[in-house]
Amino acid sequence: MRPGRLLLTLYIGVIVVVFVAGGLFLSFQVAKGVPAEELRGMAKHVVGNLARWRDDPARLRAELDELSEARVAASLYGPDRRLIASNVTPPLPIGSGEDQPRWSVVREVRDGGRVIAIGCVHMRHPDLRRAAGPIAILAAMMILLVLVIARQVGVPLQRIAGAARRFGRGDLAARAGLHRNDELGEVGRAFDEMADRVTKLMTAQRELMANVSHELQTPLARIQVAVDLMVDGIDDRVKELLPEISRDLGEVERLIDDVMTLSRFDLAHTQGTTVAAPLHREAVAIADLVETAASRFRAQHPGRALVVAVAPALPVLPLDPVLVRRVIDNLLDNARKYSDADAMIGISASPAGRGVSVAVADRGIGIDAADLAQLFTPFFRTDRSRTRSTGGVGLGLVLARRVIEAHGGTIAVDSEVRCGTTVRFELPGPGPAGLAPRTG
Ligand SMILES: Nc1ncnc2c1ncn2[C@@H]1O[C@H](COP(=O)(O)OP(=O)(O)OP(=O)(O)O)[C@@H](O)[C@H]1O
Ligand SMILES: [Mg+2]
Repeated sequence: MRPGRLLLTLYIGVIVVVFVAGGLFLSFQVAKGVPAEELRGMAKHVVGNLARWRDDPARLRAELDELSEARVAASLYGPDRRLIASNVTPPLPIGSGEDQPRWSVVREVRDGGRVIAIGCVHMRHPDLRRAAGPIAILAAMMILLVLVIARQVGVPLQRIAGAARRFGRGDLAARAGLHRNDELGEVGRAFDEMADRVTKLMTAQRELMANVSHELQTPLARIQVAVDLMVDGIDDRVKELLPEISRDLGEVERLIDDVMTLSRFDLAHTQGTTVAAPLHREAVAIADLVETAASRFRAQHPGRALVVAVAPALPVLPLDPVLVRRVIDNLLDNARKYSDADAMIGISASPAGRGVSVAVADRGIGIDAADLAQLFTPFFRTDRSRTRSTGGVGLGLVLARRVIEAHGGTIAVDSEVRCGTTVRFELPGPGPAGLAPRTG
């Protein structure tokens, strides 16, 4: 995976910290100075060399100048402790250990046990004051970097945590609202998208509850009136109302059934693979299904012209016959409800790959292009259809889509206002295992 921007910043931060820490470590090493052992060894060599030239002032001066260039201060004294030569002013003292400046060594040069010269050598340590500037800048950079990283990570994390807490408390409008191009931005956006989906889902659930309650109100109120009349003993009026009550009860039952089926599909959808789609599949000859639906429709609406066109040799498919029949019934019912009584309705079934394509067409009122996108929203009914006293609550197409998609198929609506509507669904062919045709 390519490292994101935040990770890159962290990497750079770590590298800078390592460099700064290394720089500081080296500075401290330098400040600690040359180890005493080495200093003593070097001093022995330097003083011995100087003592060799104690009687040759020119050569001695040249040696001292050379040492000076190497940042080594040296002073050479005679056995009587009188200064012979020095490359620093004032010359280095030959005091006792405590008087000695740090990093300086005094050595006696002997010849046959007799002291012939005393040398004092001082290593001038590098000027730490000059390094103090860059060290301070590096340290400041390090602190700044730590602060920037802490801010970059901490602030957005706090925002996401705050939004999550508010959302958890029921504030559905709570969002992280991070506009960043790094991993934290991604986390923020993921949270917001999740919150959007959950909000939509909850709103849809609330709307569903409100709509179901609303749709139940009218038939239940009518049933209540009838029951009141019964209580009052007005039997004639009750007899008149009985067919209506029966229709109302049928409506209530259908509504409850639709909502329950819908909930089962939604549950299967939201819980992913843990709950199977509520399908009871068996091998179904789709041609039979279409023919049966057409016969039922003709029986219920003898006055309506229905043209059936079923292609020969349609496949047998693994379907839930009850649910697919319900889809076809709803499409035929819609075609009837939303077209004039003398308008023709058509149902056709044809092969589509290894599956089938079923289309129900009418020459009715049609659907506005703007409404097409909402047709599969629960309880949506177009204004055009509401003006007709056709009944219906707006769940048929939602259910149809859930059923067809649960079978792995697709459903689409093609419509033109005042010209008519065609709803077509396609069901895929059987899997490699296939299914034996239903018998009986
Ligand atoms: N063939 C059609 N012609 C015109 N409008 C249609 C047609 N089919 C559906 N619609 C519009 O789409 C809406 C939703 O259809 P759907 O079948 O879901 O609900 P319904 O028929 O109103 O009620 P239900 O099917 O739940 O009894 C309808 O109310 C109607 O406005
Ligand atoms: Mg319908």
